[in-house]
Amino acid sequence: MKEINVAVTGGAGQIAYSLLPRLISGETFGENTKVNLRLIEIPQVLEKLEGTIMELIDCGFKQMGSLIATADIKEGVKDADWVLLVGSIPRGIVIDGKKIEERSDLLKINGGIFTDQGSAIGKYAKPNAKILVVGNPANTNALIGMNQANNSSQQWFAMTALDANRAKAQLATKAGVDISDVTNMAIWGNHSPTMYPDPYNALINGVSAAEVINDKEWIENSYLPLVQQRGKAVIDARGASSAASAANAAIDTVKSVDNPTEKGDCFSAAIASNGSYGVPKGLIFGYPLRTNLDGSVEIIQDIKINEFAQSKINSTTEELLSEREAVKDLLI
Ligand code: NAD
Ligand code: LMR
Repeated sequence: MKEINVAVTGGAGQIAYSLLPRLISGETFGENTKVNLRLIEIPQVLEKLEGTIMELIDCGFKQMGSLIATADIKEGVKDADWVLLVGSIPRGIVIDGKKIEERSDLLKINGGIFTDQGSAIGKYAKPNAKILVVGNPANTNALIGMNQANNSSQQWFAMTALDANRAKAQLATKAGVDISDVTNMAIWGNHSPTMYPDPYNALINGVSAAEVINDKEWIENSYLPLVQQRGKAVIDARGASSAASAANAAIDTVKSVDNPTEKGDCFSAAIASNGSYGVPKGLIFGYPLRTNLDGSVEIIQDIKINEFAQSKINSTTEELLSEREAVKDLLI
C-alpha cells in the first residue's frame, strides 16, 4: 500500500470530528493508500483529543496508518504531504463580552496562529506539500501562512468548496434538477459575504444556470445573499458553525486537487492570484480551477465576466486588499 502523511490542526474540534474518519476510510485518498495522521492541538485540549483518537482506532479502517497527537506544530507537519489547517476560533462565540459577528472579526484573533504554522510548514512539510486552510478568515489566514512558509514548491489553498456546494444546491433546487446536473460552479474572491457564486457561468445540463432559471430578481436578491450568508444562517440555527458540511467540503477539495478535473468542468478554491482576471498578484483569491493530468492546478482562463460579475469581483477584491492591509505586520 502507498503511504501518505496528513497533518490536521484543530483535531479535537467539531469539523475534525466529521473530517478525520473520512480521511482514513479510503474515501479521500483511495482504498490503497495508508494514511498516517498527525493531529495538532493546543496543549489544553490534548486530553480531549485522546477521545477522538480512541474512536478513530475503534472505526477499524484498514487504511489507517500511524497516529500522532501533538501540540508541537513542527512535529505535526514534519514530512506532511497534506496539511489541513482547521484549528482556529469560529465566529458566533463571545470574546471579552463582544459577539464575533463577521469572519473578518477573527482576523486579529486567528491571524497570529498562521504565522508559526506557516513557517513550520515551509521548513518541515514535504517540498510538494499541499495546504488547505479552513479556519476563518480562510483567504487571509492562507495569505499569512503562505508568506511565512516562503516555499514556492508547496501549494496553498483556502476553502471555498462549501460555498460552491451551497450554490449548486440552491441552483438545482430552483431549477428542479439533480445537483449532479449543475457543473462549472465558480466562487470568485473571498470566503465572506462579498464572495461571488457565479450563476452565469455555472451550467445546468450544459446551459448557463442563469439562463435556465431566467429570474434575475431571484438571482440577485435571493440566491446571492442566501449563499453569501449561509454560514451565518447555520450558526443562528445550530448555535455552532457548520461542521459536517465543512468537513465534506474539505474532502471535496482534497479530492479535486489530487485528481484530474472532469473535462469541461472546474472546482472552486482560493489560491494565490497570478494576476488572472485583474486580481492583484499574491492575493488568495477564489477562482474556478482545474487539475491537469500531470497534477498541476491552474486557474481557468477566458471565462466571460459580465458587468454585474465584474462589479462583484471588484468588491471582493477590495475586501481582500483591506484584510491584507489589516494583517500587514504578519506578512514577511
Ligand atoms: P471548533 O472550535 O470546534 O474547533 C477548533 C479547534 O481548533 C479547537 O479544538 C481548538 O482547540 C483548536 N485550535 C485553536 N487554536 C489552535 C492552534 N493554534 N493549533 C491547533 N489547534 C488549534 O471550531 P470548528 O467548528 O471546528 O471550526 C474551525 C474553523 O473553521 C473556524 O475558524 C471556523 O470559522 C472555520 N470554518 C470555515 C469554513 C469554510 O468554509 N472555510 C466552514 C466552517 C468553519
Ligand atoms: C461557513 O461558511 O459556514 C463558515 O465559514 C463558518 C462561518 O463563520 O460562517
